[in-house]
Amino acid sequence: MIKSGIFSMLLMGVIAGSCTQPSVGVNYEVISPYAEKVDSVLKLMTLEEKIGQMNQYTSDLQATGPSRKDSTKLEQIRKGRVGSMLNVKGASNTRRFQEAAMESRLRIPLLFGLDVIHGMRTVYPIPLAEAASFNLKLMERTAAAAAKETASEGIHWTFAPMVDVTRDARWGRVMEGAGEDTWYGSRVAEARVRGFQGKSLADTATVLACAKHFAAYGACIGGRDYNTVDISRLTLHEVYLPPFRAAAEAGVATFMNAFNEVEGVPSTGNTHLVREVLKGDWSFNGFVVSDWNSVGEMVNHGLVPDLKGAAYKGVTAGCDMDMESRAYTSHLEELVKEGTVDEAYIDDAVRRILLKKFELGLFDDPFRYCNEQRQQKTVLSLELRQVAREAGAESIVLLKNDNGVLPLKEPEHIAVVGALTDSKEDMMGSWAIEGVREEAITVLQGIKNRYPNSVIAYADGYDLETNQLDLAGAKRVAAMSDIVIVGVGERAYQSGEARSMAHIDVPDSQQQLVKHLKEMGKKVIVLVMGGRPLIFNELEPYADAILMTWWLGTEAGNSIADVLSGDYNPSGKLPMTFPAAIGQVPIYYNYKNTGRPSQPGFMTYTCGYLDQDFRPAYPFGYGLSYTQFEISDPIPSQKEYKKGETVECRVAVKNTGKCAGKETVQLYIRDLVSSVTRPVKELRGFEQVTLKPGEEKEVVFQLHEKELGFYNGNLEYVVEPGEFELMVGNSSDHLKKTVILYN
Ligand code: BGC
Repeated sequence: MIKSGIFSMLLMGVIAGSCTQPSVGVNYEVISPYAEKVDSVLKLMTLEEKIGQMNQYTSDLQATGPSRKDSTKLEQIRKGRVGSMLNVKGASNTRRFQEAAMESRLRIPLLFGLDVIHGMRTVYPIPLAEAASFNLKLMERTAAAAAKETASEGIHWTFAPMVDVTRDARWGRVMEGAGEDTWYGSRVAEARVRGFQGKSLADTATVLACAKHFAAYGACIGGRDYNTVDISRLTLHEVYLPPFRAAAEAGVATFMNAFNEVEGVPSTGNTHLVREVLKGDWSFNGFVVSDWNSVGEMVNHGLVPDLKGAAYKGVTAGCDMDMESRAYTSHLEELVKEGTVDEAYIDDAVRRILLKKFELGLFDDPFRYCNEQRQQKTVLSLELRQVAREAGAESIVLLKNDNGVLPLKEPEHIAVVGALTDSKEDMMGSWAIEGVREEAITVLQGIKNRYPNSVIAYADGYDLETNQLDLAGAKRVAAMSDIVIVGVGERAYQSGEARSMAHIDVPDSQQQLVKHLKEMGKKVIVLVMGGRPLIFNELEPYADAILMTWWLGTEAGNSIADVLSGDYNPSGKLPMTFPAAIGQVPIYYNYKNTGRPSQPGFMTYTCGYLDQDFRPAYPFGYGLSYTQFEISDPIPSQKEYKKGETVECRVAVKNTGKCAGKETVQLYIRDLVSSVTRPVKELRGFEQVTLKPGEEKEVVFQLHEKELGFYNGNLEYVVEPGEFELMVGNSSDHLKKTVILYN
């Protein structure tokens, strides 16, 4: 199974004659200028030192999982038994640990990793929110900005992007990804990898990225975090793997195993997934880190009886670095010495890790990222805050705007109600790794900043912890103004890792609050805040306008005020379907037809519910603007195409409203008849067009042959001839279509 290639020969050269090759071992074919250097270091290493490179500890400064206090970590670094640390932050702290590494026999530098999921000290919108911007350049920009700040704190590696496709809003980790669509998630994955890694890893403003969690973590049964995944291999390849592949092809430096099992084998010990698919078929030449203790957790899964068995499974399956389980440091040496594990596996892992350390320039100067002055200059700079503000505004989705109640020009009085609107801590969202709550701009503050001449009255309206209403207080401030802005939703800590929820409704009391305020005859503008799709049917009829404002980070309040005021005309589109009832979950736009297709209403003998329409509250791709757009029928350049030809489809977009705005024109396809059934629609392209009132532009979509294909029953990627529907519009439920023949 070992592919021949100059690099692999170079790498394996030293041991080729002397030891048996592992059956699926080093199989990457990159010609790296560092290959010989990596080998020369490897030659000097003892087995214990090699295993040390495969070991990662958390610092005791912060933990992002269940950690054991261990006062010997610095000592172990000095002995060369640690290759990487996570959760060490700040140029001076990283320097301290690196100095210990420089006291080790071979002076191999440490690699510092951290979960920079949506920013470091400057916090950007949560990734799901940013995905709503449908602006890939913007996502690349925030990733690059986050990388710059991260690297200035001595950190070389972020555990992001999370590229797990997710169709279940109960799962708390939906906030970390790009939502439900595989194709779009793949484009976002590429953009984020480009942003984090820049053009060169040697640049001290970039960091290594990490595609996680490999694989299918988002398919956890019942939306319960860490839960079993049970999907077909077809679904695995069709729905869950493509964003990982896209990240690999974009050059992502590392991968992280997932906690869950796939086909009965935990991902961390899954040879098919990691060695065969990732390192084999995809020729991935970076390294794979386990998730927190996921090597050790294979014992709990019941795959192996003990930690020694876990170490065996992990290393042979292709997990190169053990995060926090200590399985490798405790058992790999013994496993090699007794002949159970071929040392070539160890060498392969260490080569991959050393290669990244060379690419970062750490062998030239292990302290090149630990620069206090650079840190001071970079952290929370105005420039970064500005990026956060823009990203925040572009992430907001306008769900309703009756009678053009928004934007708010210069109102004399504004009432702001809802404890969430004044909660600094919540603005940041989950995984705000270094965000300082005092530095966040709340909604209330943002509104005050934007409307210095208005009289602004505020009331909590409900208790943040208990959700108990203070209706009297809310009504008192509402009475002073015609316009009431009400913030509702979930708390920031309710989404993120281990934050699955069986109920995803906006609390009933908050929904009632909206109703009461509307009954006072006010114009009620509702801001829905949260890290996932929420359900708020009860309040919907009483809201004049609804904005999904997610968690937007440090500049949240300013971004929201930018949209409320029309300084930024909202352009966000939902990257995940918002269900109308929890019983509809999992719900997604690209479902398949059945023999008894779903029908609107409450139909028996069709694929639906007796007590609930099958349709969502808001579909994927939905989002309004303060202006209106007209999108023409799609016009293909030909009615018939020959196999191999690129399909071209034109569509005219016109701004028919009164202000300038940006529309996201979406292209979906459907393969009408195929050997394996296909979804009723699949996103295959989108374009953002900014138009002045009355202005019209043409958008040209190009579909290459491979975008018309799918995995067949033998897991071969095929394009089958026949009819395809092409659909265009500004939301997955609002499309105009045409049919082409592709032969
Ligand atoms: C999470 C990962 C994270 C790691 C390190 C784990 O619990 O699943 O996403 O990168 O901890 O903090």
